Amino acid sequence: MSPIRKAVLPVAGLGTRVLPATKTIPKEMLPVFDRPAIQYVVDEARAAGIEHFVFVTGRNKAAIEDYFDTAYELEDTLRVKNKTDILDELERIRPEPGSMSFVRQQAPLGLGHAIACARDIVGHEPFAILLPDMLVRAPKSCLTQMVEAYGKVGGNVIAVEPCEDPSAYGVIDPVDRSGPLMKMKGMVEKPPRESAPSNLFITGRYILQPEIFDLLETQGAGAGGEIQLTDAMVRLMESQDFHALEYEGASYDCGSKLGYFEANLAYATADAEHGDAAKAMLRDFL
Ligand code: G1P
Repeated sequence: MSPIRKAVLPVAGLGTRVLPATKTIPKEMLPVFDRPAIQYVVDEARAAGIEHFVFVTGRNKAAIEDYFDTAYELEDTLRVKNKTDILDELERIRPEPGSMSFVRQQAPLGLGHAIACARDIVGHEPFAILLPDMLVRAPKSCLTQMVEAYGKVGGNVIAVEPCEDPSAYGVIDPVDRSGPLMKMKGMVEKPPRESAPSNLFITGRYILQPEIFDLLETQGAGAGGEIQLTDAMVRLMESQDFHALEYEGASYDCGSKLGYFEANLAYATADAEHGDAAKAMLRDFL
């Protein structure tokens, strides 16, 4: 079984649900407590052993590429001023030289189309997808849990989570729910609440086989008039196994204002240095 070495991070979305914050700043660069949201996603992927990151970007997203580069003047100034702690932290969280690729999605045709743009860079090997809108806090990185599950069952593995109303998400149809790792028999993108096949929604973390790319090439528009990854996965399910992992942890949908706010609360109150003060501040405020 090939290891999962590459991850695709689609970051071309316009962030219309969190305007005006995203008018001039990519939504992935909005800070969650003390760092841009995208940093948490890259950290999650690195913890799972990902060696190469493929960013599918769009216009006005250059700040993401700059963020992962060295900031020479800034870092030199920190060095001169002997601010070694933050300098070390910047170096620690920066991915290895050569480990990032950036490819443009030239038209907003949907998530499926964005993933298809990464085809040449991923090549013919299984790979991960992390949707950066979703931040996942977990005792063990969500993608690490998935890589371990993939080691047991192979094929395709997607992370899911229960919720009351999954109609804004992709929803899976499990064969049975006897444990956290379940074989799937279907999935549907943004079903009406009353016809959703389960309460398990797709959290935005996937391990997929490269055959998905052939299917994405011919995938027509689905929900919302967009080329949906979920629809291509349904077709791949005809010839390959899919498992869903109900992972341990919690997700925060930073594509929505309240989800983004909640992510800030979660990360601030869990911070090793400032968490207790943040909790006290919150209690006072309420
Ligand atoms: C996408 C996927 C959906 C998934 C969601 C998670 O939807 O298509 O299946 O549940 O991400 O965030 P989007 O948020 O792009 O509408």
